[in-house]
Amino acid sequence: MSGFAPEWLDLREGADHRSRNRRLERALAKHFDGWRPITVVDLGCGTGSNLRASAPLLGPEQHWTLVDHDQALLDAAAQRLAAWADGADRQGGTLALFKGPKRIDVEFRRADLARDLEDALGANANLVTASALFDLVSAGFIARFAAAIAARKSAFYTVLTYDGDQRWMPEHEADAALLAAFHAHQRRDKGFGPSAGPDAPDALSDAFAAVGYSVQQGDSAWRLGAGDGALIAELTAGFAAAAGETPQIDAPTVAAWRAVDRTAAVVGHADTLALPLGV
Ligand SMILES: C[S@@+](CC[C@H](N)C(=O)[O-])C[C@H]1O[C@@H](n2cnc3c(N)ncnc32)[C@H](O)[C@@H]1O
Repeated sequence: MSGFAPEWLDLREGADHRSRNRRLERALAKHFDGWRPITVVDLGCGTGSNLRASAPLLGPEQHWTLVDHDQALLDAAAQRLAAWADGADRQGGTLALFKGPKRIDVEFRRADLARDLEDALGANANLVTASALFDLVSAGFIARFAAAIAARKSAFYTVLTYDGDQRWMPEHEADAALLAAFHAHQRRDKGFGPSAGPDAPDALSDAFAAVGYSVQQGDSAWRLGAGDGALIAELTAGFAAAAGETPQIDAPTVAAWRAVDRTAAVVGHADTLALPLGV
């Protein structure tokens, strides 16, 4: 399973949804209480997981634009969202979803955020959101991004940004070496300049505070155990592969680390809610 394959995003979706920070979810819902309609842009949407988790927090009439640079993921998102909804209707380029009492209109936009951020954001979304995206981008992109959001007076909510914490059960003598190599890999350029990696949550908080937003951060670590065997196995393979691509660690150490059968893991994430003052 590679990169951002739909199967990988499917595998992590349950853990992602249950790990989201509930305090920030409540704060988001409170901020938008009574808004009808609400316009939302979801950046790096993958197969639409963020919409499936966030739409229940928002009002009865929602207009979402889902943005990704991968057309196959946008197609998978349309298919999975239609299956998730109680009813779905294609109207030209818009997918109308009916979920309980809510009507959610969804448009799909293929764009490279590193090059076309302004276009991807559009003119005036009430909320710009993302899930599991911001550790891929650079500190410079985060600063530019915060300025672009502030210029629109949009609210910003992002979840599941990797924060550098990793613990594996059972422990292994090479855990620290693997983590250091994994972080070196994380900081490589993923299309946005050198990635912020585990520094991304703090970079987001600092950038949004600097543009005058009220910022809240909350823990959203994956706490994986019984029932998460497939995800733990896939994570172990992914971390080992990434670490093994760096010169920091030798192949026998990676192989020995990978060979352990793990029963539990913690992978640290943070959620961030940044709200414009007076809106
Ligand atoms: C870790 S996945 C998260 C997907 C989804 N938000 C979720 O939570 O399941 C990161 C997503 O960002 C997208 N992405 C990465 N770089 C991008 C870029 N330069 N422009 C647009 N999308 C990008 C990937 O295609 C992928 O869908």
